[in-house]
Amino acid sequence: MRFWVTAGTLSLLASLSQAADLPNAVTHADFPPTDPDLVLLGRDLFFDPILSGNRNIACATCHHPSLASADGMSLGLGEGAVALGADRHVDPTNAPQNRIPRNAPALFNLGAYEFTVFFHDGRVQTDPSAMYGVKMPAHAELERPVPSPLAAQALMPPTSFDEMAGQDEENPISVAARDKSFRGIGGVWDLLCKRIEEVPDYVARFEKHLNGRKLHFTDVARAIAEFQTYEFQTINSPFDHYLRGDHFALTDQQKAGMEVFYGEGNCASCHSGPFQTDHSFHAIGLPQFGPGKEEGSYADKGRIAVTGDPEDRYRFRTPSLRNVAITGPYGHNGAYSDLASMVRHHLQPIRSLASYDRGQARLHDVSVQADDWGAMDDFDEVMRIAEATEIAPVNLTDQQIDDLLAFLDALTDPQAITGKLGAPDSVPSGLPMDALN
Ligand code: HEC
Ligand code: HEC
Repeated sequence: MRFWVTAGTLSLLASLSQAADLPNAVTHADFPPTDPDLVLLGRDLFFDPILSGNRNIACATCHHPSLASADGMSLGLGEGAVALGADRHVDPTNAPQNRIPRNAPALFNLGAYEFTVFFHDGRVQTDPSAMYGVKMPAHAELERPVPSPLAAQALMPPTSFDEMAGQDEENPISVAARDKSFRGIGGVWDLLCKRIEEVPDYVARFEKHLNGRKLHFTDVARAIAEFQTYEFQTINSPFDHYLRGDHFALTDQQKAGMEVFYGEGNCASCHSGPFQTDHSFHAIGLPQFGPGKEEGSYADKGRIAVTGDPEDRYRFRTPSLRNVAITGPYGHNGAYSDLASMVRHHLQPIRSLASYDRGQARLHDVSVQADDWGAMDDFDEVMRIAEATEIAPVNLTDQQIDDLLAFLDALTDPQAITGKLGAPDSVPSGLPMDALN
C-alpha cells in the first residue's frame, strides 16, 4: 500500500502541530451586531466638534480613520489647536496649556466582547460591583446603564479640559469640567445634551432610540460606540485568513516570525489571545516624556493611579497588536515611532531605556508649559522606571527580529488603512471638521 504525503498535507500537519499555541480565529460573532442607523448617527457625533466646549475638536481629531484611528503623533495637541496629525498646530488665540500626556491609541476591534478594560491605565473597566457594572473614574460614575464598557469610555473625553472641554472660564462646559461636575443637571453631560437638542437633525434621529425618554449623554455614547464597533472592526488581515485555514495567506518569513512570536520570543505571554493582548498591565520600562500624569510632576506611573497598589507602579495595559504596523508611535506615550525599535526595546528594556534616542519622539513643534524631557533628565526617575521593569531580556538574532516584524506586518487588515465609512461630508451642527491637507 502506498502512503501519499503531498506538500499540502505536510504543511497542514505542520500547522496542526502549532495550533495549540495559536489563538482561535476571530469572527463577527466575537462582536455585538450593529444597527446601521445608530452607526451613522454615531459617525456624525464622532466627527462633530459640538461635543467639545469651544466647538473646535472632535473625537475624530485624535482618532481619525485616515490616520489608523489615531493621530500619528507620540503626544497630540488637544483643545486649542487646529488641523490633523503632524500638521496640527496651536491656535494662538486659544493656546492649549500642555500636550496631551499620553498617546492617542488606535481603536481597532475595541467593540469586541473581549475588550472590557479601557485606557492605558484601565480606569474604565467592567466591574460587576460598580454602578451599572462599569467602574469609572471619580465623579464620573454612570447615571444610566450603558450597552458596553466601550460606550462608558465615550463619556470621558468631553469631561477632559485638555482634550475637549476647554480651559478655565472659556465656556460653561469647561467651567463644569473644571469643577468636576460631570453628572446631574448643569454637569458636562447634561450641558452637551442640551446642545444636541438644539440641532433638529440630531433630535429627529435620536427620537426612535429613546422611546419617549429625554436624551441622556449615555445615548450619545451608545451611538458613538456603535460607530466605533463597526468602523474599526478589522478582522481580515493575512493572519486572520491563516487562522481560518488558508495556509498560503502568510509568507514563509511571516510564518517564521509567527513561530518566534508564539515561541522563543515569548511575546504571547502578554500579547495573548485572538487580539494579542492579555488585557492586563505590565511594566516594560518605556522611556517617558511630556507633561506626565501627576500634578506638578512629569511622572506617569500608570496603573497605580487606579489601584493604589505599589505593584502596579509604571504598569500599563498590554495593547492589542492588530494593525500594529500602521498605528505608530508606540507605547502609552508613543515613545518609539518605529516598530523595530519598539520590538527591540522589549528584548533589552533596560539597555534600550538607557540609550534612548529622543529623535524617536514625534512631537508637535510647540513650546508648552512643561519640560518635555524632565523625566528622562531625572536620573532617579529613570532608575525608578528601570527598577519597576518586569520583562525579562530575550536573545533573538537579527534574522529572528526581521521575521517577527514580517509577522507583525501580517496583522494589518487593508481596511484599517482605508477606513470603512470614513468621514461624513459634513456634520449636523454645521461646524467645520478638522481635515487632512
Ligand atoms: C485630544 C485628543 C483626543 C480626543 C479629542 C479624544 N481622544 Fe480618545 N484618547 C486620547 C488619548 C490620549 C487616549 C489615551 C488616554 C489614557 O489612556 O489615559 C484616548 C483613549 C481613548 C479610548 C481608549 C482606547 C483603549 O484602547 O483603551 C477610546 C475608546 C477613545 N479614546 C475614544 C474617544 C472618543 C469616543 C472620543 C470623543 C468622544 C475621543 N476618544 C476623543 C485622545 C483623544
Ligand atoms: C511582559 C509582558 C509583555 C511581553 C512579554 C511583550 N510585551 Fe509587547 N507590550 C507590553 C506592554 C505592557 C506594552 C505597552 C507598554 C506601555 O504602553 O508602556 C507593549 C507594547 C508593545 C508594542 C506597541 C504596541 C502599541 O500599539 O503601542 C508592540 C509592537 C509590542 N508590544 C510587541 C511585542 C513583541 C513583538 C513581543 C515579543 C518579542 C512583546 N511585545 C512582548 C507587554 C509585553
